[in-house]
Amino acid sequence: MPTLACTVDGLKLPNPFVIASGPPGTNLNVISRAFREGWGAVIAKTVSLDASKVVNVTPRYAKLHAADGREVIGWENIELISDRPLSIWIEEFKKCKDLHPEGILIASIMEECNRDAWVEIVERCQESGVDGFELNFSCPHGLPERKMGAAMGQDPDILTEVCQWVMSAAKIPVWAKMTPNITHIEEPSRAALAAGCQGISAINTIRSVMGVNLDTLRPEPTVEGYTTPGGYSSKAIRPIALRMCLEIATLIRAEFPDRSLSGIGGIETGADAAQFLLLGANTVQVCTGVMKFGYEMVKALRADLLAFMEKHQFETLADFRGHSLDYFTTHADLVHRQAERKSAKKATGIVQADGEWSGDKFVEQSQSLSR
Ligand SMILES: Cc1cc2nc3c(=O)[nH]c(=O)nc-3n(C[C@H](O)[C@H](O)[C@H](O)COP(=O)(O)O)c2cc1C
Repeated sequence: MPTLACTVDGLKLPNPFVIASGPPGTNLNVISRAFREGWGAVIAKTVSLDASKVVNVTPRYAKLHAADGREVIGWENIELISDRPLSIWIEEFKKCKDLHPEGILIASIMEECNRDAWVEIVERCQESGVDGFELNFSCPHGLPERKMGAAMGQDPDILTEVCQWVMSAAKIPVWAKMTPNITHIEEPSRAALAAGCQGISAINTIRSVMGVNLDTLRPEPTVEGYTTPGGYSSKAIRPIALRMCLEIATLIRAEFPDRSLSGIGGIETGADAAQFLLLGANTVQVCTGVMKFGYEMVKALRADLLAFMEKHQFETLADFRGHSLDYFTTHADLVHRQAERKSAKKATGIVQADGEWSGDKFVEQSQSLSR
């Protein structure tokens, strides 16, 4: 019988399914629910020293539906970090560790670019007994105006400095959460790992505009007639998240082989999770999925992942973690490999060169090139 249990940066998790920072970890009540349902760890909603500066609006979510009009495939939010005072959070962290001593509780923290502020938030959260930190360098809206969140994550030099401040005070594992709103995600990832962070979490939401209402002609989500670009999540972002995890896992393998990766973005099934693990993730996080399907979805996630492992006769997550990284190469190498195969056996019915496309068989030819 395979096991989902894993040890990541010294933290013992019963399974790799982690609640991502956001509404599903927004107070003690919901965090306790997550542990009761059997999630492997919980990352609480991001906290800061002065919650009075955090003012949310409503509506703050907008959804993209599939053609059936029902299934939600994309989700935009303009929600900020937690608007609850840090003193209340500290009490809840302590109570949570009393209630669930075995539960891995990670505090997500964010501050302005100031050494004292970062050291203070690390020390106050750490004293409460949390098991680890996630540094939110990635919120794409609202906070960049205060040079927080994605504004830091997009600048490897600032990120190096902030991670060094955190590491000077942290005695527990630290994961740096990356923004996808950057061309080369490995650059800030390298900065965080070189500064001593134990792991990388990726990705946060993708900066987006959900759409424009064609009756009112106003963009959505509409707040007093206006909006601001937000963060895109849910299954539509999974291919982008997988690509970014591939890039970070490749970096970790080459330069920081003892560090960890937590994959995030559109995970809703055990099969989705298996793909992140195959691309080198140690754990996977779920946020919007929980908002769509509820905390109990972890039972199906665990069962699906175990079934995948049984099918391939994998006993532990380590047996297949990073397995598929070996099968990425350059486009030039794909051309070379295909030319070799074609010279051995000429493929039939498949377009080999652009001149072979036919108007009559266009759809069939397009299908034959997929996969
Ligand atoms: C409504 C909402 C609020 C979020 N709040 C936070 C947050 O406070 N801190 C954070 O690091 N990420 C936050 N996130 C980002 C998620 O943790 C996650 O990185 C992202 O949504 C992609 O994962 P998903 O597709 O499973 O939702 C939030 C996401 C959503 C949808």
